[in-house]
Amino acid sequence: MEEADQPSTARMIDFWLGGAHHFPVDVAAARAFEGAYGPCAPLFREMRGFLGRTVRAIAAAGVDGFLVFGAGVPTQGNVHEAAPEATVLYTDVDPVTIRLGQRILAGSDRAGYGFGDATDVGTIDPALLHRFVPGWGRRPVGVIFLGLAAFLDDATLAGTLDELYAAVAPGSFLAVDFDSEELAAHPQALAMMGPAFRMRPPAAFAPLLGRWTPTADGIVPVQHWRPEAPPADLPDAFYGALATKPAA
Ligand SMILES: C[S@@+](CC[C@H](N)C(=O)[O-])C[C@H]1O[C@@H](n2cnc3c(N)ncnc32)[C@H](O)[C@@H]1O
Repeated sequence: MEEADQPSTARMIDFWLGGAHHFPVDVAAARAFEGAYGPCAPLFREMRGFLGRTVRAIAAAGVDGFLVFGAGVPTQGNVHEAAPEATVLYTDVDPVTIRLGQRILAGSDRAGYGFGDATDVGTIDPALLHRFVPGWGRRPVGVIFLGLAAFLDDATLAGTLDELYAAVAPGSFLAVDFDSEELAAHPQALAMMGPAFRMRPPAAFAPLLGRWTPTADGIVPVQHWRPEAPPADLPDAFYGALATKPAA
């Protein structure tokens, strides 16, 4: 079994979600972060709940192909589990997480995992893209872009979302989230996220969506996006939206 010498936020999330696909270095980083911030598991459960609700909403609109960026670990209620009838391509840039994902999905003919830099869709292996997201560019798809915006500056994020808008067929959906300014009150935890980590107030995020149109649900704390049970009383750490490229 491969080890990792650097922690990954994706595998830390797997730890917080009670998964089995992380390494000692991820657990140590997760515990150190909680020491500086506080319990994280409830926040990431809400994040994963948002993923599930948006994916099911996209599938209910008749979409059966998903492309996932910054995918992390493909378990614990991830996209192919929320939409079991769909085909899903998970992508990430972290080689250890990609290999982990490929092992997890080895037996699946509906979900695959490969390299993909969200800022350049051309980095995805076209054979994988067309196998797991058939009709890419011609049929509506679901693009899942969660846990990623915080690692991209405004210009890169806006350019990336616009490139994706141009690439997908009309009728496609984008599930997206971003980090609020919650960590500003926890400077030690914020420092652990590194200098490139970006927090945004909702008003600063909306223009970055560009041509993508948020649904009437708006851009809201993820636990308030079409909740299926009374939302947990948690800090508004993550905001999210479901957006569309309207059908022609
Ligand atoms: C906070 S984790 C989120 C993982 C997953 N979306 C989740 O919610 O569990 C961020 C992930 O984005 C990946 N990442 C960072 N920059 C990226 C980029 N430019 N393109 C694609 N993935 C990237 C990291 O390797 C990491 O796995």
